[in-house]
Amino acid sequence: MFLEDSAVLSNVNIGGGKYLLKIASQTAIKAAKAGQFFMIKCKSEYFTLRRPISLHYANTKTNILEFYYEVKGKGTKDLSSFEFGDKIEIHGPLGNGFSTNIVGKEILVVGGGMGIAPMKQLISILKGTNKITFVAGGRDFSAIKILESFDLEGISTFVTTDDGSIGLRGSVVSKVSSLLEEKKYDSIYVCGPHVIMDIIGKLAIEKNIFCEVSLESRMACGVKACVGCSILTTYGMKKVCHDGPVFDATSVINVRPIENTTACEISFPDNEEKKEQENKEEKNKEEKNKEQKIDNKKLEKKKIEKKKTDKKKKGVK
Ligand SMILES: Cc1cc2nc3c(=O)[nH]c(=O)nc-3n(C[C@H](O)[C@H](O)[C@H](O)COP(=O)(O)OP(=O)(O)OC[C@H]3O[C@@H](n4cnc5c(N)ncnc54)[C@H](O)[C@@H]3O)c2cc1C
Ligand code: FES
Repeated sequence: MFLEDSAVLSNVNIGGGKYLLKIASQTAIKAAKAGQFFMIKCKSEYFTLRRPISLHYANTKTNILEFYYEVKGKGTKDLSSFEFGDKIEIHGPLGNGFSTNIVGKEILVVGGGMGIAPMKQLISILKGTNKITFVAGGRDFSAIKILESFDLEGISTFVTTDDGSIGLRGSVVSKVSSLLEEKKYDSIYVCGPHVIMDIIGKLAIEKNIFCEVSLESRMACGVKACVGCSILTTYGMKKVCHDGPVFDATSVINVRPIENTTACEISFPDNEEKKEQENKEEKNKEEKNKEQKIDNKKLEKKKIEKKKTDKKKKGVK
């Protein structure tokens, strides 16, 4: 694991809010494995928490690390502002990746949506020594555009889109189901929306096929120092950042940890969120002060009126 100051080579919007970030790396790149991730520091100092992003591709010939990410919230929006020549701090590679020490196997690789991200590296490592079928899917054409940068020569590739704009209409699940009926696979590797990993993981277990799923969980530290990413597995509580993100499908009890893990955010709100909260509190104070001032004025007015009527009454007497 390295903490490396790297240089941004490019950060290109490839459509649909998805970016391909390329950075120069001297040390971390040498250790990076398919399925591992990096904690990437945002450009603005407002963000104290780094964002977890999967290794997309490590080109060890050119020393270029690639990340494929989608703008989701404030942090990834900030990442999208990196430009050529900027300094970028990365921490990694982190976690346990896919099992790649295999030869001569029939392998099914499945990437749904941003789950396509770790598959470029995985395919590049497995290809040549194994027979690979790749099913990639997404909402529309923009979700699939990233495949243009993959080396898919010799790989049986199937594309699905929800709107049918390219490839088969529908989700990767229906294509995977039909492939599993047609052929016996030795291993399945899946990354994508949790519902997809849930269904394919169960299908693999039913058919007794070794299957690994790459889970997502909200992360604060990325290095097992907090408890935010803990999930319950058949081996007890495990940390997605350290024991995963890749898990054997048979060990996963709840494939949707992201819905249950908000502790990191609660214990480590980043500066941006803190600032927002402080602004809100400041505004509330100002409103209250205003109201108080108005009340005081009203009270003052009432007092003056009372004095006037008292004087009048005295005069009448
Ligand atoms: C191991 C791993 C690998 C990932 N790889 C990729 C990838 O290759 N490409 C990609 O586009 N996305 C990836 N993600 C998801 C990505 O980390 C989130 O979309 C991103 O952190 C959202 O940050 P934000 O500030 O834009 O959103 P916000 O919702 O504003 O984030 C608020 C906080 O919650 C955390 N958070 C929010 N959503 C997630 C999430 N889904 N996973 C983890 N933390 C989250 C953020 O890090 C931040 O600390 C990965 C997540 C994990 C856990
Ligand atoms: S993110 Fe802190 S322990 Fe996993």
